[in-house]
Amino acid sequence: MTRADLLERLAIQTAEREHANLRRRLRTIEHVEGPWLESDGRRLLGFCSNDYLGLAQHPQLVAALKRAADDEGVGSGSAHLVCGHRREHAQLEEALADWMGRERALLFSTGYMANLGVLQALLAPGDVCVQDKLNHACLLDGARLAGAELKRYPHADIEAAARQLASRPDAAALVATDGVFSMDGDVAPLTGLAASCTRERATLMVDDAHGLGVLGADGAGSVAAAALGPREVPVLMTTLGKALGCSGAFVAGSAALVDGLLQFARPYIYTTAMPPALAAAACTAVAIARGENWRRGKLQSLIARFRTGAAQLGLPLTDSPSAIQPLLLGDARAALDAAQALEQHGLLVTAIRPPTVPQGQARLRITLSAAHEDKHVDLLLDALATLPRRIGAGGHV
Ligand SMILES: Cc1ncc(COP(=O)(O)O)c(C=O)c1O
Repeated sequence: MTRADLLERLAIQTAEREHANLRRRLRTIEHVEGPWLESDGRRLLGFCSNDYLGLAQHPQLVAALKRAADDEGVGSGSAHLVCGHRREHAQLEEALADWMGRERALLFSTGYMANLGVLQALLAPGDVCVQDKLNHACLLDGARLAGAELKRYPHADIEAAARQLASRPDAAALVATDGVFSMDGDVAPLTGLAASCTRERATLMVDDAHGLGVLGADGAGSVAAAALGPREVPVLMTTLGKALGCSGAFVAGSAALVDGLLQFARPYIYTTAMPPALAAAACTAVAIARGENWRRGKLQSLIARFRTGAAQLGLPLTDSPSAIQPLLLGDARAALDAAQALEQHGLLVTAIRPPTVPQGQARLRITLSAAHEDKHVDLLLDALATLPRRIGAGGHV
């Protein structure tokens, strides 16, 4: 018998990753205080969290969570459609729909599940799903799960997206894009994509996990910042685990979309509803993220400070207006070495390597937060200035 042993094969694949400097490792964080993290007994200044508005430890969120837990307990007890959909979930959905300017919003336990659920509910075999090459893994997985034909256009290339749509004129079509790209920080060409979708009678879906709270007048995200509404972007998905400092996700859109998801999105139907206390905390986060414009102002000023300083150091910056400011280093070893060198300076910045990013585009994914201060950005710049200069395929430090 020649049957492969699955665990043996997995171990071989893991060893191959180690060999290529691509092995992923877990790190336990013992304590968090604002942008500071404790790990292995050391206090490190973090530049890798997605807590862009500094809300994850906000006392009002903590109080809302505790209050709801005191009243309602911890677990929701069942799926939304059984008896898990509590008042806290309903209130949060209303607040989110209002913020997004959509008729309704539907909560999911994670962004990953929301994208799987939307794509699987909307698409069927024979349909086409056109996606940016740099979209998040869960959008790509969602299209595959749905059995649709997945076509990936070069990053931000609206003409290529239009060509891909036009190549299947008779197929039902979804164009899906990150609003802000998770590893690059740049904003998708939403206006151009929306125009193509209108012309080609395709549906546009935006995953705004990294735009929500950060972009747009009251933090409504990249779609609002591009002055696009429900007609141009009928399917808007975003998460609660980044700028809102909580966990979970939602899809906002028409009442018909939400009702359809409720019927057909399996990752919504067959899973336990998020804890009601978490929904209560997220509801408080929405009010703060919408109302406290100073957080966005402070974040923007930290981003500007970092970009100016990095440009002065001659570091290769991407065209990113968001809290994600990657430094492209090229090969995986260079990215790991840079992350290790920064850690010697007391800074925690993650090295992002393939397959999360394309081959030859390993990077430091630097993220900024309203929880940082100017002096923290200066510490980061000082440390970056000490890194050895080397040429990588994607840039140089
Ligand atoms: C663009 C994007 N979409 C979706 C997700 C998944 O969201 P979640 O962490 O809530 O599963 C992430 C990252 O986590 C992301 O970066």
